[in-house]
Amino acid sequence: MTDLWWKSSVVYQIYPRSFADADGDGMGDLRGVIDHLDHLAELGVDVLWLSPIYRSPQDDNGYDISDYQDIDPLFGDLATFDELLAGTHRRGMKLIMDLVVNHSSDEHPWFVASRSGKDNPKRDWYWWRPAREGMEPGAPGAEPTNWGSAFGGPAWTYDKETGEYYLHLFSPKQPDLNWENPEVREAVYAMMRWWLDRGVDGFRMDVINMISKVLPLADGRLTAGAAYGDGSSSYINGPRNHEFLREMHDQVFAGRPGMLTVGEMPGVTVDGAIKFTDQDRHEVDMVFQFDHVWADRGADPWQLIPLRLTALKGIFGRWQAGLAQVGWNSLYWNNHDQPRVVSRYGDDSPEHRVAAAKMLGTVLHLHRGTPYIYQGEELGMTNYPFRTIADFRDIEALGQYHQATVQEGRSPEEVLTVLRARGRDNARTPMQWDDSPHAGFTRGEPWLAVNPNYREINAKAERADPGSVFHHYRKLIELRHEEPAVVDGDFTMLLPHDERLYAFTRKFQTTELLVIGNFTGETVRAEIEDAIAWEEAELVLTNVAEPTGLTLQPWQAVVYRRSM
Ligand code: GLC
Repeated sequence: MTDLWWKSSVVYQIYPRSFADADGDGMGDLRGVIDHLDHLAELGVDVLWLSPIYRSPQDDNGYDISDYQDIDPLFGDLATFDELLAGTHRRGMKLIMDLVVNHSSDEHPWFVASRSGKDNPKRDWYWWRPAREGMEPGAPGAEPTNWGSAFGGPAWTYDKETGEYYLHLFSPKQPDLNWENPEVREAVYAMMRWWLDRGVDGFRMDVINMISKVLPLADGRLTAGAAYGDGSSSYINGPRNHEFLREMHDQVFAGRPGMLTVGEMPGVTVDGAIKFTDQDRHEVDMVFQFDHVWADRGADPWQLIPLRLTALKGIFGRWQAGLAQVGWNSLYWNNHDQPRVVSRYGDDSPEHRVAAAKMLGTVLHLHRGTPYIYQGEELGMTNYPFRTIADFRDIEALGQYHQATVQEGRSPEEVLTVLRARGRDNARTPMQWDDSPHAGFTRGEPWLAVNPNYREINAKAERADPGSVFHHYRKLIELRHEEPAVVDGDFTMLLPHDERLYAFTRKFQTTELLVIGNFTGETVRAEIEDAIAWEEAELVLTNVAEPTGLTLQPWQAVVYRRSM
């Protein structure tokens, strides 16, 4: 078996504000997580990843941090955090923190100092630039570059006090830290060591392939109809990215074996990921790539492209092959930024939801890599029926809606259609614990409405039902823990041109697994080599009451095992 423990692990992501509210203020908190640790232990996950709980003005729900070494009072305090960490460890699980260091909050003392004057010693901790050559500072279009920010509007904000602009790839309350400055890097590493000394087991690193920028900062390509240029080639996978992560590894993780690091990297390539995750290079253990969650996205961001299963298979196939020898994949359908997968790539109708959720989980978890489960995914939670823009709370949805409808002249209905399908708030509605008011999430008013389907879809009902999505996920995790072929087996994609079935094998020593998922509501025969022989093999896992061999029922998944 493998020496790297996280290869046989499953990680569970908690979005604390939506997980469980113990104090009744409508917002999830650390006590709420402590209260539900047994749910996670029963599911069998190995690692918990906590989305940010640090002190924060909550402009982007905590991804804007004003004190990296304290807990936001919304969530609790350091003593409660220590209790959570101890409770997690006592149950044999590990805990990793979210590390958000591409940017801080504008209310962080570092930025407050930086903004206070051009001569302040922290001025160069952020990206300050004068107005565009020959333009009046603060005038429309005078920003140092033409980049748009991720949440709508320009990526630069003018600061009257000193007459310069600061860079923020996300909201104006999330100024980018200047990683070129060694003092910034040292401060970040010291903070990381402080958390590791406290006992945490690693970090999930927010947009960590944006920390290195191409100098000098320059205009991006402007497409017709767009309000801003696309600056991404100046800040995605920048020239010093590998160097910075290697330095971080040496300064923070050297001499501390057994940690887990995963870098969130929008726009990372397979070749880049091989380098980032090559254990000999000492950068990170795995990365989150985005290709498979962008498979339903066209060139026009406000268009919905129906999923082509062959495209999805092409993407996964490429990543599986690319990282087969060196490096390691992370596997995810969902997180706090993505819509619910059963609604997105499956079928969330009452007829098919349970089968589709199980099938999607099966296909994902049987790939080679470390699977991540996002809270509620183990229940088959669905997208929320948003009606108007007033139902959204997410800064991204609101900002992009404004830019698209006001600045770019799109029709509100066109934009809303996409936000309903893709908006991040789909993932952020409260966790559905039981069928009591607000799904048992809070005794107060939840900060974001609970999905009205909580009476049917909730943890209490699913834990009691052996046929539930919850128990299927539990079995998937168990299978990874028990079957070395799931962890270490070679991956071979089958039926690459089939638009209905997702099929592959995993081979390890004398064991071979066959995995097939039916991505349709119809019955489909899997025309694979050796079909009859496979039907005689051991059926390890499926999601229908009466399996019919390799003739797959709607949204059915099968996992067969045989010895070679
Ligand atoms: C990451 C986070 C997302 C956040 C952004 C800025 O993509 O996952 O939630 O808004 O970075 O920190």
